[in-house]
Amino acid sequence: MFADCIENRKGKMFIDGIAAEELASMFGTPLYAYSERRIRENYRRIHSAFYRRRKNFRLNFAVKSNNNLTTLSILRSEGAGADCSCPAEIMLARMAGFESSRMLYSGNYNTDEELSYGFDSGAIINLDDGPLLERLLRFGRPGVVSFRINPGTGKGKYEGLVTAGPDAKFGMMEEEAMRAYRRAKEAGIRRFGLHMMSGSNVLDPEYFPAITERLMDIAGRISSGLGIEFEFIDIGGGFGVPYQEEESELPIDEVAQMVVAKFEERIASTRTMGDPALFIEPGRYIVCDAGVLLASVTHVKKAVKNFVGCDAGMNTLLRPALYGAYHEILPAGKMDEAKTIVANVTGQICENTDIMGRDRKLPDLAPGDLLAFLNVGAYGYSMASNYNTRTMPAEAFIIGGKAYLTRERETMTDFVRRQIVPPAVMRDEQ
Ligand SMILES: Cc1ncc(COP(=O)(O)O)c(C=O)c1O
Repeated sequence: MFADCIENRKGKMFIDGIAAEELASMFGTPLYAYSERRIRENYRRIHSAFYRRRKNFRLNFAVKSNNNLTTLSILRSEGAGADCSCPAEIMLARMAGFESSRMLYSGNYNTDEELSYGFDSGAIINLDDGPLLERLLRFGRPGVVSFRINPGTGKGKYEGLVTAGPDAKFGMMEEEAMRAYRRAKEAGIRRFGLHMMSGSNVLDPEYFPAITERLMDIAGRISSGLGIEFEFIDIGGGFGVPYQEEESELPIDEVAQMVVAKFEERIASTRTMGDPALFIEPGRYIVCDAGVLLASVTHVKKAVKNFVGCDAGMNTLLRPALYGAYHEILPAGKMDEAKTIVANVTGQICENTDIMGRDRKLPDLAPGDLLAFLNVGAYGYSMASNYNTRTMPAEAFIIGGKAYLTRERETMTDFVRRQIVPPAVMRDEQ
């Protein structure tokens, strides 16, 4: 459950060789700290598991999971493409050096401005609904187009992480997809992709070949029904990471072997699909366990229940409040001390859902002690907010044994910079 970038040295937590307490004193708290080495390690493990088995393969990193430019630059240098959910993510990916031809733009409920931006950007556009094609065609005819398929079922660790099936807001069912590809063909588009993203944080290895098979069956029927070939078929992300002691790691090599086998078996048996590249677009698998959130204890309340308050709450890390997600919380400076209390760990937000961990066994803690939230590299900072007028945290990277600040903590000056108070509201004082 603990990535190898985290170590307990004589009761103190170290992150890639640097004491968590030192990072906190250098950059303050709350602080997201990432191991560059671990991101590269995770990328290489998942990339090579697939690439070894299928050379016609591409990994597009899901920018939404971690939008720090240092993260993106690391992954670009590794050879990844980028999975972008909106124009801002296309801009970020471009700033990090990704070429547009290696970006897939998968928006949903797009505005015309977004479609126009996507078209001009040169990224491959992946449409979430058939009628979006007509709106896109107003800006020109893309060289290649892809549609997001809802394979009818999905899976995720929490209900909120299931992104396919009858209730999902994403993608289109087979019938609608058939209409969409037919319309694209009539419009003169000759190059096609096909996409799915059915859920996130899945640790069941069997799920991936099963959902790939389902998608490939749909792709086969579209391809033979319309006489089109696919340049790529994207099975999405969703590769899970253990957050809790009882969970085991996803055997990624086995997953890749089963997925590639199903993928190639279906291409061979259908015979109409061409030789599509296999695309995947993981976020969590690559960055999750490379990130630690450091927070300072602010107050300990001993009431009917014990509460350990700290300066990281649902504004800093939303996942516990949003999904009921579990994150391991460790006392970074008191790793070997006896766990004498059971407490709810809470942030400083005025919501009773601002509980970061329930009934956690912790040592006696006092204001100023450091807590470390593990597995926060994915959907951590990128989901943070200014709720309760809390400014955004800082982000740092550990690279080659040295710590670098990669995103400054937001200040109140930053926070109010874009606010404009109309003079008209002052009229009572005139
Ligand atoms: C379209 C799309 N692709 C990829 C991902 C990445 O998912 P994960 O982080 O589970 O790999 C997401 C996550 O929500 C997504 O919406």
